Amino acid sequence: MRSVVVRAPFLLALVILGGWAVSVQAQSSRCADCHIANQQSAAPNWSGFALRHLQDWDFSPHSRNNVGCEKCHGGNPNTFEKFQAHQNLLPASSPASPVSRVNLPKTCGTCHTGPFVSFQKSQHYKLLLSGDDRGPTCSTCHGEVGAHLLSPASLSRQCSSCHGPGREQERTGRADEARMLMTEVREVRARLNQAQAIIRRIKDQALRAKFEDQYRQAEVPIIEAANAGHEFVFDNLQERLDRARQRTEALMDALANQ
Ligand code: HEC
Ligand code: HEC
Ligand code: HEC
Ligand code: HEC
Ligand code: HEC
Repeated sequence: MRSVVVRAPFLLALVILGGWAVSVQAQSSRCADCHIANQQSAAPNWSGFALRHLQDWDFSPHSRNNVGCEKCHGGNPNTFEKFQAHQNLLPASSPASPVSRVNLPKTCGTCHTGPFVSFQKSQHYKLLLSGDDRGPTCSTCHGEVGAHLLSPASLSRQCSSCHGPGREQERTGRADEARMLMTEVREVRARLNQAQAIIRRIKDQALRAKFEDQYRQAEVPIIEAANAGHEFVFDNLQERLDRARQRTEALMDALANQ
């Protein structure tokens, strides 16, 4: 996932367009340039969704990391000619589109392998494949393009919207489990962030490299837990979280005694 080349991470200009400040970053993709430039003339043809989508993209880690429109939609990103750019582009309503509900996991999964691998084991994915639209797809929780991360409370609300009391798929324990798990993930992450801040200030290069290595070791089980969480069965995650916590505390001790 981190192998995506960031070609020009600097801010080129700040343009006021259509009422919001657009941070135009250097992108290798022409798609967004034209869509942002034409949003007003094209607005009558575009739904409110498309305009919001453009803005969500603009402020997302995807935009910052050069994940252009074509990475999800297809098309040719190397031209300013609309007809050429849109060749092989399908509207999202087409089941064959890479951004249709059923194809989205695979499309996102080309970059986010860890979550995709676990998602494929879930009952939710089986529902999608069978053409049953009652379950979630990636965008249900992360947005279509914004790459939002959910707080423990918003995740548990998300589960409850389908599994809460009185709902058709009532499984009341699921939301609580999800909230507990995510709270723990957040706690360990917060400790890791503290450790990182200390490590950054270490002047001795060899010592810093040693701690950075230990940091990565502590981070592994927490990344694994977040990925494995995409099966939405949490029973087998506790072991990973315990390991992450132990390693993180060992790192904090070592940093305190350096
Ligand atoms: C030169 C301008 C231009 C470029 C370049 C461009 N688009 Fe568009 N795009 C438009 C306009 C204008 C619309 C509104 C509908 C129309 O006029 O065809 C549109 C519509 C769309 C739609 C809505 C689907 C549809 O059929 O209406 C999608 C999705 C889309 N573009 C994606 C892309 C992607 C992905 C790229 C790059 C590979 C791209 N566009 C490049 C101008 C452009
Ligand atoms: C991370 C993946 C992703 C990226 C990047 C992305 N989109 Fe989308 N896009 C989606 C998804 C998902 C939908 C919603 C599909 C649905 O309706 O369920 C969508 C829907 C749309 C639609 C309305 C549906 C249609 O096809 O008519 C337009 C227009 C559109 N995107 C344009 C763009 C443009 C322009 C960019 C770049 C600025 C972009 N998208 C970047 C995933 C993405
Ligand atoms: C072409 C590769 C690519 C595609 C396709 C893609 N992403 Fe991303 N995504 C990235 C990169 C690069 C980042 C930013 C770096 C990072 O956080 O690892 C990112 C960040 C994210 C984050 C935030 C991660 C964090 O820790 O802050 C989420 C959530 C996310 N993407 C979800 C999605 C979803 C959902 C889709 C499909 C609708 C999608 N991505 C499609 C490359 C991609
Ligand atoms: C029911 C809600 C839900 C669905 C559906 C979902 N996710 Fe997530 N996702 C989460 C939660 C919760 C986290 C953990 C957030 C955190 O770490 O703060 C997460 C984390 C992530 C991350 C960042 C952490 C990492 O492992 O790098 C990415 C990327 C991601 N999801 C991608 C996806 C993709 C791709 C799909 C579809 C295949 C998907 N998610 C479906 C809830 C969901
Ligand atoms: C958009 C609606 C929706 C959301 C959001 C959702 N689910 Fe589901 N889920 C479903 C449906 C529908 C089924 C299939 C029920 C069936 O097969 O009877 C399902 C099945 C499951 C199953 C497999 C059946 C079982 O109980 O063993 C689990 C586990 C599950 N969901 C957990 C979760 C968790 C945890 C969350 C929140 C992180 C969540 N779901 C969010 C709709 C949803």
